[in-house]
Amino acid sequence: MISAGILLALISVVVAQSQPYGQCGGQGWTGATTCTSGWTCTYSNPYYSQCLPGTGGGSTGGGSQTTSPTSGPTSTVTSLNALAKSKGKLYFGSATDNPELTDAPYVSILTGGMFGQITPGNSMKWGPTEPSQGTYSYTQGDAVLSLATSHNMIVRGHNLCWYEQLPSWLSSSSSNATLVSILQAHIQSEVTHYKGQVYAWDVVNEPFDDSGVMRSWLYQNVVGTSYIADAFNAAHAADPNAKLYLNDYNLEYSGAKFNLALSTITTLVQQGVPIHGVGFEGHMIVGSVPSAASIAANMEKFTALGLEVAFTEIDIRMTLPATAALLAQQQTDYQTMVTACMMVAKCVGITVWDYTDKYSWVPSTFSGQGEACPWDANLVEKPAFNGIVAGLNSQG
Ligand code: G3I
Repeated sequence: MISAGILLALISVVVAQSQPYGQCGGQGWTGATTCTSGWTCTYSNPYYSQCLPGTGGGSTGGGSQTTSPTSGPTSTVTSLNALAKSKGKLYFGSATDNPELTDAPYVSILTGGMFGQITPGNSMKWGPTEPSQGTYSYTQGDAVLSLATSHNMIVRGHNLCWYEQLPSWLSSSSSNATLVSILQAHIQSEVTHYKGQVYAWDVVNEPFDDSGVMRSWLYQNVVGTSYIADAFNAAHAADPNAKLYLNDYNLEYSGAKFNLALSTITTLVQQGVPIHGVGFEGHMIVGSVPSAASIAANMEKFTALGLEVAFTEIDIRMTLPATAALLAQQQTDYQTMVTACMMVAKCVGITVWDYTDKYSWVPSTFSGQGEACPWDANLVEKPAFNGIVAGLNSQG
């Protein structure tokens, strides 16, 4: 017969152990610092230790890394940016967004040396920056810029002309000439505001439809393809030193969309339009990433025109729930993507479309999909992190 006192003591021992994948340490953590049998409390960052598979002895989450899961991060790399730079790249960065900047643990990783570049995910787009015609609002974009520059991180401006997140006052009944002057005024204002402070602008975003025709939207339909040159010319006039990019997704694949992008951009270059780079967004699906060699070959079609290229928005989504096999495939896929950039001398940098699943755009857009980022929603590095490191180490 067990006495009530002994029973209580036993229960308290049981509840004093964190459950699989539960938190077991980190600044401000007052809960259990050991894990149930077969799981080890593993340091992730100053704010979070987590029970991960492995028999490291149920160690504490007080601050030092104790062990790592077989397929999880084992790397000692603390700066993807430094590693990328040591391999000849300009930066390794992440997107962010203003609402996230109140999340101290998140910001700590974003600005703590891991990354050397930031892209504002939303706050420099046309809708947010010109809410009514001729009235500009740069407060949110300035906040991201200031965070980046105060941590010696470079900024990619995103974006000046896109079919989404347009101001509601833009009217489809405007004439061709009116729409061109509205576009020029917007670009002149925004690029001047940030003159000398951004490394590159995504001047025109996603102008190509997946089917291999120009995307049908206001400017394409009213002005025609010449709106692209108008946008680049306006941006160059406002900041002659900024790198000006055309940015799109699915350029990693061969086919009709890629062919249209290549022919359109070739024409822009031949016409002397001030375009300097092509952004490969890199929104991919686990298990569907082409080979590094074929992605690199696509990039080299643009570098052969004298342009630079970059991965601007990498994430690699999966159908949930995540399994060890899917996370392992994702690790391979991240490695493939990063390797592709490493194979191309003029692939200048890599940006992930936010580093953590906590703030990924994927689940709200693709029902049942997610876990696309290299850090999980608890800000813990996933196996994908090791894939990135392996990719960065793949050349030289
Ligand atoms: O700001 C409003 C807020 O006022 C409102 O209350 C709220 C209600 O839904 O919406 C907020 O706007 C959201 C905005 O993000 C800012 O959070 C929009 O609904 C939401 O659609 C928008 O999503 C962004 C999306 O672009 C817009 O299409 C994502 O965060 C952003 O990650 C995503 O990024 C794009 C790149 O710019 C281009 N390439 C593809 C990539 C993924 O779609």
